[in-house]
Amino acid sequence: MTTNATERVKEEWDSQAASWFQQRESMFAASRPIHEWMVDHLEPRPGMRVLEIAAGPGDTGFLAAKRIGGGRLLSTDLSPSMVESARKRGEELGVTNVDYRVLDAQAMDLPDASFEGVLCRWGLMLMPDPLASLRECRRVLVEGGGGRLVFAVFTGPEENPFASLPAGILVEWGLLPKPTSAWQPGILALGDRTRLLTLIDRADFASAHIESVDMTWSFADADDYWAFLVDLTALGPLVRSLPEETRQNFRAAIDERLARFRSGGRVELPSRCWCVAAIR
Ligand SMILES: C[S@@+](CC[C@H](N)C(=O)[O-])C[C@H]1O[C@@H](n2cnc3c(N)ncnc32)[C@H](O)[C@@H]1O
Repeated sequence: MTTNATERVKEEWDSQAASWFQQRESMFAASRPIHEWMVDHLEPRPGMRVLEIAAGPGDTGFLAAKRIGGGRLLSTDLSPSMVESARKRGEELGVTNVDYRVLDAQAMDLPDASFEGVLCRWGLMLMPDPLASLRECRRVLVEGGGGRLVFAVFTGPEENPFASLPAGILVEWGLLPKPTSAWQPGILALGDRTRLLTLIDRADFASAHIESVDMTWSFADADDYWAFLVDLTALGPLVRSLPEETRQNFRAAIDERLARFRSGGRVELPSRCWCVAAIR
């Protein structure tokens, strides 16, 4: 069950990798508050060994790599195409203290206690088994207080209309299941603070510091937001698979509901993340 679900996630992100690479600069600029919080709370130091899981094009890890001197980054993702995007991005940025690998973060083929830091931005909530991944992160971290996992996931629907607005329509139209208390991976699946803290606790981390951090998704116009939704988000594969007429109706419904986020022709969508630093 988890294997099939993970295989589907891999195919979906493989199909988005080229767009993530194309949009790397705008994505990096918009998400600056998040990756800066993450890398600061990693407390990078020379010689540190850092693992990034679900790295996508890898920018958060590359920021850390520049701050660990002779240390080394292992940049990983489930999707082979995403790993290739990260490799191109790393070359473009001139980052040399990095290795790349395809890796399922729920079952890591890596030795125990082999990293001082693990990074994960916007990955855990998409996994069929995030607890398995958190336990794996803890396992590969060094013991004795020196190892830390720093990650970010989106908070709830109210604070993240970029995802809740289209998802809400898809639920209303019966194209997405209604959220229930059962675990269902998705962009906002770890938005509930209590659920998130319970997961961290069950993974047995000694302590966790959690903060909410805001950012803004800024789009030139509604077309620009539509391209982002279809080409870059986890909802993209579903939207692309809709029959043409449904897709057009969906687009019209989105345009209507985006009205309150328009500002001088642009579309400005606020967003909030839970940023977490957990000590092994
Ligand atoms: C929303 S993107 C985030 C990419 C990058 N971390 C960033 O912040 O720009 C989610 C990434 O998680 C990866 N992913 C999903 N499930 C995964 C898993 N089980 N193991 C490793 N990576 C996974 C996807 O392939 C995709 O690259």
